[in-house]
Amino acid sequence: MRIQVRVPATIANLGPGFDAMGLAVALYNEIEAEPAPALEVALEGEGADVLPRDVTNRVVRSAAALFEQAGMMLPPMRLRCCNRIPLMSGLGSSAAAAVGGLALAAAWLGRRGSWGDLLELATALEGHPDNVAPALLGGLTLVTRNEEGWIAARVPTIPMRVALALPAVQVSTEMARCLLPAQFPLSDVVAQIGHVALLVHAFREGDWGLLGRAMRDRVHEPYRAGLIPGYERAVQAARAAGAAAVCISGSGPALAAFAPEGHEAIAAAMAAAFEEAGFPARTWVADVEPEGVQVEVEPDPDLR
Ligand code: HSE
Repeated sequence: MRIQVRVPATIANLGPGFDAMGLAVALYNEIEAEPAPALEVALEGEGADVLPRDVTNRVVRSAAALFEQAGMMLPPMRLRCCNRIPLMSGLGSSAAAAVGGLALAAAWLGRRGSWGDLLELATALEGHPDNVAPALLGGLTLVTRNEEGWIAARVPTIPMRVALALPAVQVSTEMARCLLPAQFPLSDVVAQIGHVALLVHAFREGDWGLLGRAMRDRVHEPYRAGLIPGYERAVQAARAAGAAAVCISGSGPALAAFAPEGHEAIAAAMAAAFEEAGFPARTWVADVEPEGVQVEVEPDPDLR
């Protein structure tokens, strides 16, 4: 048996949807798994020089957690992880690892179909539902919690591309959360609720003017912008190049810009602004990813 998993990067928050909204984009980590005499982890791409190759690897830990939930030990396996989502970038690399490990374990255990039921465990393992839910479900995903657990829903959007720029600075999500106030005035809360509601409508309709006005945040971006050198310049450069809306992706430092066209030029403009601020940046232009984590299982030849 050989299992192949493909899991997308995610842009959490999208401005005002702090901890409650995320968008999957077509930048993928891929994992291949097959039975082996002992655990072997091969790493390629992003983080290959720093990520662990043993049981502490996040993909392995997540897979082990699902086996444990099923009352079993993780079987020995050979894993090959080809990572394209940069670490500590705000693009959901930890969530991708957690979701990837869970999806591969689910497939190994013979589960098929939708992966939505992995949301509870994925969030318990990774902590950020607004990355985990779109990585599982794809597209624009809304998520919140009540006394019964996590609730997530995927919202259709028009087909869209996103311009991403990642300056060469690392931001720890933990630190970026410590900067946020514990309480906000009611006027901020009310404005935030209205902006989120309009933002969802704008994504659904592809209303770029509304997207630009609705993607304004009062809860985290004002406090986190200072962690991203060249933030103001990069946002202005993106707008000048035709972006309708720009947000910090997750807790940063990547910025995501939304526009009907001109994505390459917008990404280049953001990179030039970061460069001027003394921080070279990498860029991507990616489609919105509509499906979430994908798994293929190749059975043993003699079982076919
Ligand atoms: N909503 C989380 C935060 C996402 O902004 O802290 C982390 O990727």
